Amino acid sequence: MFMRRTVISVVVVCLTSSVSGATMAVAPGAMAAYVPTSSLAAFTLVAPTFEVPSGLLARAVIASGAGCPVLNGSTEAGTDFTLPMKLRPKPVLAGAAYAAVEVCERGIPADAVTAMVGSRVIPASLPDRIDRIALSGESGCRILSNDIQDCSRLSTWPLARISRNIAKNEPDVIINLGDYLYREATCPMNDQNLCASSPPPPGNLPVTGSAASWIADALTPMQPVFDAAPILMVRGNHESCARGGIGFFLFFSPQRSTALQCAPSIVGGVVVVPSNDITPTWHVTWQVGTSDADSHSLTLEVVDSAYGHDGAVSAFAATQRTSYVAAENHVAKSRPDEAWLLTHRPIFGMLPTQFFPNGGSVWSSADQAAASQGLLGRYGLILSSHIHVAQAVNIPRQPGQIVLGNGATELYPKTGYPTPTYGPLSKSDGSALSPLATPYPAPTSTWTDVRFGYAIATPGRDAKSWSFEHQDDRGRIFAECAVARRAVNCQSTD
Ligand SMILES: [Fe+2]
Repeated sequence: MFMRRTVISVVVVCLTSSVSGATMAVAPGAMAAYVPTSSLAAFTLVAPTFEVPSGLLARAVIASGAGCPVLNGSTEAGTDFTLPMKLRPKPVLAGAAYAAVEVCERGIPADAVTAMVGSRVIPASLPDRIDRIALSGESGCRILSNDIQDCSRLSTWPLARISRNIAKNEPDVIINLGDYLYREATCPMNDQNLCASSPPPPGNLPVTGSAASWIADALTPMQPVFDAAPILMVRGNHESCARGGIGFFLFFSPQRSTALQCAPSIVGGVVVVPSNDITPTWHVTWQVGTSDADSHSLTLEVVDSAYGHDGAVSAFAATQRTSYVAAENHVAKSRPDEAWLLTHRPIFGMLPTQFFPNGGSVWSSADQAAASQGLLGRYGLILSSHIHVAQAVNIPRQPGQIVLGNGATELYPKTGYPTPTYGPLSKSDGSALSPLATPYPAPTSTWTDVRFGYAIATPGRDAKSWSFEHQDDRGRIFAECAVARRAVNCQSTD
């Protein structure tokens, strides 16, 4: 009952914004090709160029049976295009959990200057030189049987507000570092006022996500960022196949070949989903800079770290290592001016000491740190989320680590982040965490701030220097981080 009411309200809201979007600056020719198919959400994904030559993929989430809209637009040369969108394959056994929606997609032409999905304007291109990147992560509203975030108020789950304020910054491109779906349980009867009619997990699958929960947790509150700029989506551990994976691969995965990655199957008469199914590393290269004079290439290597242990080195690290080898090989071969590593679980992230009352190591995530060891020398920066804070860590001779896990999901404790006297892959006494990996030295500096927000990254005049401006959910600046010579130095400004 709650699920049905949620879906209907979403459709009403989105139809309204579609109509208003159609009045925005659109080439007259594009309007002539208008097809009155409305979408529940529409966005432009940053995608690998081996699948989409322009590096941009248009997606539309529609009500099942509505029929795909067309992708309209105009090119630099002033010609109009009208391209049919194709249904993205949906796992057959997803059944009732995803029956309400379908997803349509089409690569955006490389010379497009305007684009519309049906009646909705979507970002059509990236600028020739990028100088403003918005970044966030950890966005869903936490619903567990024993831990309910108040999803009904912007002060306690401010994703819609954060999305609006990211858009106000007019970024050229947006990076989301993963963990979109946090609605993992049926709302307890006594907490109905907090859950805001949140849909329960599907009953037909051994997973927690459904189309309705993706609409509530991501597709509706993220629409302002969808409207603002193309968005690069990283897979988080909440998008493992047992959680929101089917939805991630249906809605946000930027590769056409991954549509059925988490498809359920029947084994021994039981419906199951894959496990430890990391997707191949992919990459994108942009020109960045403050002017044409300092324009240079930046490659982002995107590693899928949906699986693995945070506090221990397991056998999975050897499997995960292939992802980091692929990233290293590509950077070594392509030799960009600058390279960043994007991976949801941090290589050098710190949890609060309260999580370890018996004095365990605060470093996370151990499997990722072990899997990537010796393969980080070409990066100037590592970007992750996963830990529900804003954080920066400098390990000697390693790229600086920025954590952006403050994107609306329930935050971690405000205190408890002293700079450790021991490094990642160590126990708190400095001894090796595992015989499978060598401990890193202790950090030279750390910085942690615990409040909702996101960051805006702008390049500096010096090659490989960047400024990361942290803004809270209301758009107020609370910290500035300078990135230079592979180190991140943050200063709180309030
Ligand atoms: Fe995570």
